[in-house]
Amino acid sequence: AAQWPAPDPRPSFHFAPERNWMNDPNGLVFFEGEYHLFYQYNPHGDRWGHMSWGHAVSRDLLSWEHLPIAIPETEVMAFSGSAVIDWKNTSGFGRNGKPPMVAIYTGFDPVTKNQSQFVAYSTDRGRTFSRHGKVLDIGSAEFRDPKVFWHAPTQRWVMVVVKASEKKAAFYSSRDLKQWQHESDFGPTASSTSVNWECPDLFELPVANGKPGEKRWVLAVSQGDKGPDNGSGGQYFVGAFDGKAFTLEPGWEDTPHWQDLGADFYASQSWSEVPDGRRIWIGWATDLRYAHAIPTTPARGLMTLPRTLTLRREGADWRLAQAPVRELESRRGALTQLEDLTLGETPVPLKLGESLDMQLAIDPQLASQVALSLTDAQGYTLLIGYTPATREVFIDRTRAGPHVHDAFPDRNIAALPPGDGPITLRLVVDRSIVELFAADGTRVITDRFFRGGGALSWSAHALGGRARIQSLRAWPIEPAVLP
Ligand code: FRU
Repeated sequence: AAQWPAPDPRPSFHFAPERNWMNDPNGLVFFEGEYHLFYQYNPHGDRWGHMSWGHAVSRDLLSWEHLPIAIPETEVMAFSGSAVIDWKNTSGFGRNGKPPMVAIYTGFDPVTKNQSQFVAYSTDRGRTFSRHGKVLDIGSAEFRDPKVFWHAPTQRWVMVVVKASEKKAAFYSSRDLKQWQHESDFGPTASSTSVNWECPDLFELPVANGKPGEKRWVLAVSQGDKGPDNGSGGQYFVGAFDGKAFTLEPGWEDTPHWQDLGADFYASQSWSEVPDGRRIWIGWATDLRYAHAIPTTPARGLMTLPRTLTLRREGADWRLAQAPVRELESRRGALTQLEDLTLGETPVPLKLGESLDMQLAIDPQLASQVALSLTDAQGYTLLIGYTPATREVFIDRTRAGPHVHDAFPDRNIAALPPGDGPITLRLVVDRSIVELFAADGTRVITDRFFRGGGALSWSAHALGGRARIQSLRAWPIEPAVLP
């Protein structure tokens, strides 16, 4: 008989809280050897509510130590926001010559519905926060998710925050993190057809295939609906930022540039202060349509893998490129390697586990479709595949498990840039989440899936003719044992 809901398929190297509801990543900052991950958290249950900042720290972005609530709900809920290290103690919150960690977040007043920006600070490595209070109120019920960073050229703090229902990113500047001055707004744009914008981020990235030292600014915004799979998702814009205003790259074609083409990547935020200068971000692995229907217990909410970002030019256009953080490679277990595996319609079983990192080179030859399948003990099957005729990689969840929600059974597609012959894919699977990276990470599909019961088994097949797996290299990733 179907066991439903299935027992929580707790991930082995993705972040989930120990229990209760989690949504957006917040306050991502590196300080004194630790990556901090704060997150939207309900301490009292597994539905959205009583929003507070949960907290975890990690030294490798993959194994996380759970810490007590950092910022609790008070007369306002602590909505999403960011954190910085105030090296010059511009805020005056520092103690004994040590720079404070300063959190800037939205306080939501459930009575008046007002959304304003608040500040809290910590002088003990994020373990406890003192509340400074409200710093920016424009009398709005749709003003949230401040992302703050130090803008060295103007020697000021910059905040990007959304006027959510207007689909505007607003830019503010400050000398002390307390007094904020409005500089400009960006948006809406022609591609802004969604109900709102949420969780903005703004950072400069190297152009991986550009001239030496070439960089551009990227403005990322999440949107509550009409995303790539018609649910929630995120866009990005490429351009310039002078400390006051964001301007689009000349010739930017304002069609949606999706951060991720799967169903389950939302509210992404990047880390500040990463010591080697990498820009790393993480997302909340869900679609808003079914976030409350996620059938896991006692924790409801999962983060994606942290991903390193670069930019790539693609013809006249631009693409954000994402790769799993390199720390994942040091967590790899014993390699399984297959070479020159011929595929036909009869599935070839593959002896691989449920949490792994995989590199795959597929030569489709004469096949019309090549796919890996992940099947549970009840026959529910998730397909991860490639259709050469349209050069599309896909994740197909139409038969991937019992009914979670009407929006769940879907097929999420990424069209690869023109070309022919073999393709290479990177696939990261962790029990109930799959993240597929194609075309140098310029196409990413992130999807959750839920089994009916039992262990998952892998196989590969081709339809419409033979195909060949040129090489498959897979490494199990086991849960870390923290000291
Ligand atoms: C995005 C969001 C944010 C808000 C937070 C509240 O999922 O709606 O805009 O700050 O969640 O939990």
